[in-house]
Amino acid sequence: MTHKVQGIIALEKNAPVSLETVIVPDPGPGEVLVDVQACGVCHTDLHYRQGNINDDFPFLLGHEAAGVIEAVGEGVTSVTVGDFVILNWRAVCGGCRACARGRPWYCFATHNAQQKMTLEDGTELSPALGIGAFVEKTLVAEGQATKVNPEASPLAAGLLGCGVMAGLGAAINTGGVGRGDSVAVFGCGGVGNAAIAGAALAGATTIIGVDIDDRKLEWAQGFGATHIINSRQIDPVERIRELTDGNGVDVAIEAIGLPETYQQAFFARDLAGTVVLVGVPAPDMKVELPYIEIFGRGGALKSSWYGDCLPSRDFPMLIDLYMEGKLDLDGFVSETIGIGDVEEAFHKMERGEVLRSVVAF
Ligand code: APR
Ligand code: ZN
Ligand code: ZN
Repeated sequence: MTHKVQGIIALEKNAPVSLETVIVPDPGPGEVLVDVQACGVCHTDLHYRQGNINDDFPFLLGHEAAGVIEAVGEGVTSVTVGDFVILNWRAVCGGCRACARGRPWYCFATHNAQQKMTLEDGTELSPALGIGAFVEKTLVAEGQATKVNPEASPLAAGLLGCGVMAGLGAAINTGGVGRGDSVAVFGCGGVGNAAIAGAALAGATTIIGVDIDDRKLEWAQGFGATHIINSRQIDPVERIRELTDGNGVDVAIEAIGLPETYQQAFFARDLAGTVVLVGVPAPDMKVELPYIEIFGRGGALKSSWYGDCLPSRDFPMLIDLYMEGKLDLDGFVSETIGIGDVEEAFHKMERGEVLRSVVAF
C-alpha cells in the first residue's frame, strides 16, 4: 500500500518551493512510517533549494521533525506504532570503523530508508538529509526515529533533530564545557544560541555571546549569555580578554562559518583552550593563522558534526531536561506556520527575523 500526502518540494534550482502530492510507500524491512507533527525550517533546506548541496532535484525538504510512528516494517524492534519520535540524520550502522572503535557519534556509514518516496508521476524524490519531513507522512530508517517522552511539545522537540542539537552538542559534546568554564559563542542564531544554552546547562559561569545583530544578542541573554558583544561596534577579542582577567575563554565556539569569526574564536581563547567549529564554511573559504600560534597556544581545534551527538543517548536525555524546565527548547520556536508558508519562512530566515519557524501539521 502507498500513502498519498502533501509535501514541500524544491522542483528546480533556485525556484520557489511548491506544495505537491507525494507518494509514500508502506515501510519495508528496517523502515518506519512517521506521521509528522512538526518540522522546523533550517538553512540546510534553503541550501538544497538553491542547489548548494547537490543537483539531485527534486528534493523533499524538511528534516527537523517530530511525529508519531504509524507503521513499522519487518524486523523493527527499537520503536513501535504510537511511539513519539524525533527524526535524526545519524542512524548509526554499528559496524563501520568509527562504530567498531566505540565512537558511534562519528558513524561513517549512517543509513536512510531504502524505498523511495515519489511524486505522483513516479519521479523519485531526494529527501533532505535523508529525511524529508515537510510532508504529512514520511518514510525513514528505524535508526532515524528516536523515541522520547510523548508529553514534550512536538514543535520544540523536532528542533533537537538538527540545528539545536548541533549547537547544544558543540558545547556539551565537542567542547566538553564543564562547571566554572568560560565560553564565547560567535554567532547567536539558532545554532549559536543552542550552544549558549548548552554551556549554561553544563555549568559555565561566564558565557559571552558575539553577534552583529542586537536582536540576536538579546535572545542570547534569554538562553543564558552572561555578557554580549556587538562585534560591529566593539573588538570582540579585546573585550573577551577583558571579561576573562586578560586570559581569554576556555572554550570558543564558532557558529557562523566565516574565516573572520574563526580567527576571532582562535584568538579569544585562553592557553590550552578549545576552539569548536560548528558553523559550516563555504567550499572556497580559506583561513589564515600564524602557524607558531597554533603550536604556542596549545589546546585543541575541533569541528563538531551535528554536535557529535548520539541520538539514542542525547535526544531522550535532552527532552527530559526540557520537561524538567532546565532547557528552554520553546525559546527556539519563533513562530508556528502552515505547510504552505515554507517559502516565506526562508525569507524571514534570510532577513534574520527568526530563530526557527516551525511547520505544525
Ligand atoms: N560576526 C558575528 N556574527 C555574525 C557575523 C559576523 N561577521 N555574520 C553573521 N553573524 C551572525 C548573524 O547575525 C546570525 O545571528 O551569525 C548568526 C548566524 O545565525 P543564523 O543565520 O540563524 O544561522 P544558524 O541556523 O544559527 O546556523 C549557523 O551553523 O549549522 C551551521 O549551516 C549552519 O553555518 C550555519 C551556522
Ligand atoms: Zn557506523
Ligand atoms: Zn538542519
